[in-house]
Amino acid sequence: MALELSGVAVTAGRATLLQGLDLSLGPGQLVGLIGPSGAGKSTLIKVLLGIREPSSGTVRLNGQPVQQAGPVGYVPQDDALHGSLRVQEALLFAAELRMPTWTDAARRSRVEQVIQQVGLEERQKVAIHRLSGGQRKRVSVAMELLTSPPVLILDEPTSGLDPGMEAKMMELFQAVAQAGRIVLVSTHAMQSLDRCSRLLILMQGRMIFGAAPDQAPDWFGTRSLNGIFDQLPTQRPETWAQKWATGRTLLAQSTPVQLSAHLRVAGLPEHPSDTRQGDTRQGDTRQSDTRQGDTRQGDTRQGDTSTPSSADSLKPPKNLHPALRDPALQKQLEELKAAREKKG
Ligand SMILES: Nc1ncnc2c1ncn2[C@@H]1O[C@H](COP(=O)(O)OP(=O)(O)OP(=O)(O)O)[C@@H](O)[C@H]1O
Ligand SMILES: [Mg+2]
Repeated sequence: MALELSGVAVTAGRATLLQGLDLSLGPGQLVGLIGPSGAGKSTLIKVLLGIREPSSGTVRLNGQPVQQAGPVGYVPQDDALHGSLRVQEALLFAAELRMPTWTDAARRSRVEQVIQQVGLEERQKVAIHRLSGGQRKRVSVAMELLTSPPVLILDEPTSGLDPGMEAKMMELFQAVAQAGRIVLVSTHAMQSLDRCSRLLILMQGRMIFGAAPDQAPDWFGTRSLNGIFDQLPTQRPETWAQKWATGRTLLAQSTPVQLSAHLRVAGLPEHPSDTRQGDTRQGDTRQSDTRQGDTRQGDTRQGDTSTPSSADSLKPPKNLHPALRDPALQKQLEELKAAREKKG
């Protein structure tokens, strides 16, 4: 199973809501989607679901256009539930509609199971309009769990939940993913993101990160995931996006110094960033042995939010690691240089 986006852009009038998005998600992944408000998370989710047609690019589930590939579970940001029904009734009703071929007993047992999964046992006889916001959200999640869809996409399913419940729900999503599904969750809560196998970060419609959550702090030059949002305004969205487009392959294959050298040649924010200097995190041994030749101490670019235009910054550093001589990366670099020179 694969959910794949290729070259996706979404425009509305003159506004660009998403641009240049490439993504491939596979079974077993819990994917966290974060980004400032208005970054395009809900728009991306609608594109992934096939609710919103991209202006360009393709969205495929198992190689087919997503609209034809079968149902994807979806919990929208603003969920609509029948307030007058009790929790259990609403779920039984949904089960009847969605699983018409099941026996009554099988449906009852499934409803019982999902009520347990979302921790609503004690509220199952209560009318939905009498539930708290977080409890209502859990009913919406339970509705989608009924059919065990292969892909489950949830737009801010934990907003309005207390931290304990948020942690429990993320644990549940992780378990659902580990059972062989793709689960994508957009959120503003940072505390449980380490449960995600992959973290996608959007900024002004661009993908600026898409790897494991524990790789994100270094990528943005912060000490923790929480610091990332403070770091975003230090560069323009297009610079962060270019950093991701340029460095994504190397992130998996290279040491921080090799990656940093490549990014430096491309005139992009380095990795790890200067803000990490003096950071002596326990157990972090990466700074000790591999930083020879790192001349960033005297680098005057700190705080500079523009991409440097001087031809000097394009000179390859000495002792370029063999991994950075990869022909594809070299080609990418040449293109970047040519584009930069053309610009001015
Ligand atoms: N139909 C539309 N026409 C024009 N602009 C739109 C439309 N839908 C959304 N937008 C704009 O697109 C941008 C992205 O919106 P989106 O709802 O995807 O953001 P988000 O990341 O989900 O934000 P939040 O965290 O607040 O939910 C916003 O600036 C929004 O105003
Ligand atoms: Mg949203």
